[in-house]
Amino acid sequence: MMSCLWCRSSWMIICLTSHLLLLGLAGSGVLAAAPRTPVNVPFGRNYVPTWAFDHIKYLNGGNDIQLTLDKSTGTGFQSKGSYLFGHFSMQIKMVPGDSAGTVTAFYLSSQNSEHDEIDFEFLGNRTGQPYILQTNVFTGGKGNREQRIYLWFDPTADYHFYSILWNLYQIVFLVDDVPIRIFKNCNKDLGVKFPFNQPMKIYSSLWNADDWATRGGLEKTDWSKAPFVASYRGFHVDGCEASVNAKFCDTQGKRWWDQKEFQDLDAFQYRRLQWVRQKYTIYNYCTDTTRFPLMPPECKRDRDA
Ligand SMILES: *[C@@H]1O[C@H](CO)[C@@H](O)[C@H](O)[C@H]1NC(C)=O
Repeated sequence: MMSCLWCRSSWMIICLTSHLLLLGLAGSGVLAAAPRTPVNVPFGRNYVPTWAFDHIKYLNGGNDIQLTLDKSTGTGFQSKGSYLFGHFSMQIKMVPGDSAGTVTAFYLSSQNSEHDEIDFEFLGNRTGQPYILQTNVFTGGKGNREQRIYLWFDPTADYHFYSILWNLYQIVFLVDDVPIRIFKNCNKDLGVKFPFNQPMKIYSSLWNADDWATRGGLEKTDWSKAPFVASYRGFHVDGCEASVNAKFCDTQGKRWWDQKEFQDLDAFQYRRLQWVRQKYTIYNYCTDTTRFPLMPPECKRDRDA
């Protein structure tokens, strides 16, 4: 019965008709809430450059930065701290104009061999053609969970919020306030791991991936258009900082993201997720029967996986 609630909240009504006793419990679903509004903090508060330091430009006293990709190199940065759970957000304005072949990434990753990872990857395109947002989740070193969507706005025109809410119950990918993907911690019995005991760092980078990114690698980076520039601000990190080898976080279970209203999406959020699925999804590994003749286990149970 719990899995009914946990894994299929969008089907809550169906569950409820067969489990009237759960009415009281499920009613608490209306308490579900969007994550806290990210706080704008300067880059240097939470992040350091990772490589090609001269390709990062600091503006507005370090509140804004720009990553530059040219023929010689891309660049990237990473969080100072490692975190077990929390809410991580960034405002990004993607490479404008002809960005085909470029990839801008924002992701969380643990540092060990059987690593966990939560990815946003923005695949550029020719001028006027739509970006693709690809997401993925690795657990215990296993990925292959790609989903791809088009965005409902031009991500090069303005800054937008890209955020991850990660707690013991779920991982939620958010674009502005819209949940575009969830990965729930309810499939342990099917052998699906959930990231819960390996702290992750936050990373971002801009690099050339014209061997695969745009129309599967058909569109190459036009270096005559370089440098390619992605702009960032709002380096919000609200996580439980933990040493790299920690297995749990000191305040686990006590922080805002652990509370009931963040353990599942509410009905409104599920409707928005459905809207993204129906109107903007262009690829979902769950429905790729050529690649996965046996449906990945988490997809069987959770249509929102
Ligand atoms: C780029 O534009 C083409 C043509 O509209 C489209 O098929 C493709 O999905 C777009 N995005 C990427 C990253 O290839």
